[in-house]
Amino acid sequence: MWRIQVIHGPNLNLLGQREPDVYGRLTLAEIDERLHAYAAETGIELRTLQSNHEGAIIDAVHQAAGWADGLVVNPGAYTHYSYAIRDAIAGVELPTVEVHLSNVHAREPFRHTSVIASVCMGQIAGFGWQSYRLGLEALIGWLEKR
Ligand code: DQA
Repeated sequence: MWRIQVIHGPNLNLLGQREPDVYGRLTLAEIDERLHAYAAETGIELRTLQSNHEGAIIDAVHQAAGWADGLVVNPGAYTHYSYAIRDAIAGVELPTVEVHLSNVHAREPFRHTSVIASVCMGQIAGFGWQSYRLGLEALIGWLEKR
């Protein structure tokens, strides 16, 4: 059974009320519920965590190295400038998929840069909560072929 850690970054606890035109109306709890349902269907063990703090996200990446086979991470705005999160992902050598609810490439120019993407298998952006599901699917497919 594959074990996957999902990490939600800053401000994603506000989903549901935060810029619904951009991020949709689902709350983070509703998204996690859908991801857990997908995990149950697929037979994977899933843990989800949200933090507004860079250090806590780094700690979660380190801790995942102790049990997880891979990571699905939405680093929120840290995507665009956190070399520390980038280095944490590079350091643990867990296959990682970067996901975003919104299509960051169709938004403000500062969102077009990801300092995380180069240490990830790939990036999925623009499909709302389904970006996470697609990220899980991509990761499982990769783990199975490894
Ligand atoms: C986001 C995109 C980021 O640019 C933004 O700062 C977020 C959410 C997304 O999921 O679309 O907080 O990661």
